[in-house]
Parts: sequence; C-alpha cells; structure tokens
Amino acid sequence: MTGPAGQPEQHPVITIDGPSGAGKGTAAAALAEALSFHLLDSGAVYRVAALHAVRCKADLTDEASVLAALRTMHAQFKPRGLDGVDVFLSDENVSQEIRTEKAGNAASQVAVMPAVRSELLDEQRAFRQAPGLVADGRDMGTVVFPDAQLKVFLTASPEQRASRRAKQLKDKGITANIAGLVDEISERDQRDASRTHSPLIPAKDAIVIESSDLNADEVIARILEAWRQVS
Ligand code: C5P
Repeated sequence: MTGPAGQPEQHPVITIDGPSGAGKGTAAAALAEALSFHLLDSGAVYRVAALHAVRCKADLTDEASVLAALRTMHAQFKPRGLDGVDVFLSDENVSQEIRTEKAGNAASQVAVMPAVRSELLDEQRAFRQAPGLVADGRDMGTVVFPDAQLKVFLTASPEQRASRRAKQLKDKGITANIAGLVDEISERDQRDASRTHSPLIPAKDAIVIESSDLNADEVIARILEAWRQVS
C-alpha cells in the first residue's frame, strides 16, 4: 500500500500531547485498549533514560556525559492494558522508581538536550506497528509523528493537574504534598514549554481538549469520536 507521495503507507497513529497531569496517560492507555493499538508512553522513555544516566553517574548537566550513558541502556516496555506500561532496565522492573517526582525532574533535565532527544527518536518511532499506535507525550504530534492521523493536545488547570498527580502517586503508594506538586509541575512545564528543541506546544493541526471539567470517560469519548471522523 502506498500513501499520497508514493511512500509506503504508515500504520495509523493517534498522538496525545500536553503538560503533566492533564490526564494523557489514562486517556492514552484507554484508547489503546479500546482500539487494540500499541501504546507509547514517551514520558517513561525519558524517565528511564534519566534513571539510567543517574545510575551510570553521568553528569545531568552535560549532554555528552548523558549521551554516553544512553548508549549502554537496555530498556524494555511491556504493556499492562489500562495500567499503561511496565518498564525494565535490563531485567530490573523500574516501573515504580521512574514515577517519583525526582525521576520526573531528572527526565525533564535530560529532555532539554537535543542530542538526547534525537538519540531517543528511533526508539519511540519503533512503537509504530500494526494495527496502530497511541503515543502520549509532549512532542508526539509536532516532532516524533508529524504525519499522525489524529493529534490531540490535552490541557487542564494547574490545580486540577496537581490534584490528579497526587492521586496517581497515592495509588502507587507514594505520598505527595499538593502545594509542592503545583510548584514542581509549574517549574517543569515552564522548562518544557520554553526549551528551544521540541518545546511543549500544540501541533498546528491538533485538536485542543481542555479537560478541567471533564472526567476521564468524557475525554476518551471525545477522542474516540474525533478518531471515528478521520479513520
Ligand atoms: O509525561 P511525564 O511526566 O512522564 O514526562 C516526564 C518528563 O519527560 C517531562 O516533564 C518532559 O520533560 C519529558 N518529556 C519530553 N518529551 C516527551 C515526553 C516527556 O520532553 N515526549
């Protein structure tokens, strides 16, 4: 099968981008389940990369040092249905460890480095397999899968996002303080939105969903409806 420019037609992709705590992970896992698509949690890719770099004692402020560490990384991602993915570094399950705020901050530190982002591009694109992919992140629709059939940008107010994040962490047995979370989330968003390489911005052709007043089922229903219109 070939596409418009004679290129082989690629498997369909739905991208869901947006800031942390907007509900992307829940929506992406549910959509992947509903459509029997693969799931890419690109935040987990950056988180495991940062964890590996820390373990290799790389200097997180030095791109070459982080890059050298990444070249020795063996990460695996195993789908867990509605629960997202399990993440392994070599054979060790690091799914809990990469979800802490500390790991998120380390991820956002290495994510500003252009060479790190390009090093992780192929790894992310390899998730595009039949029958299709739901990709969750910050630059899925703008950089990683610019030809995605459906692009969604999911946002929510900072307070909503902090309280959702606190609940997610609590479900994983991690206690968090809401005020501290609002500060950390804002600081991370600011870094993600202002970096020169792959900043957090909606793709021009993305549909924007503000989810502060929507529950997860309503968000999923909206995305499924948009998908039916384009597929
Ligand atoms: O989505 P999550 O909170 O797991 O992502 C952790 C960090 O990884 C983000 O704050 C961001 O800095 C980085 N990230 C990114 N691009 C992506 C996904 C995550 O820069 N596509």
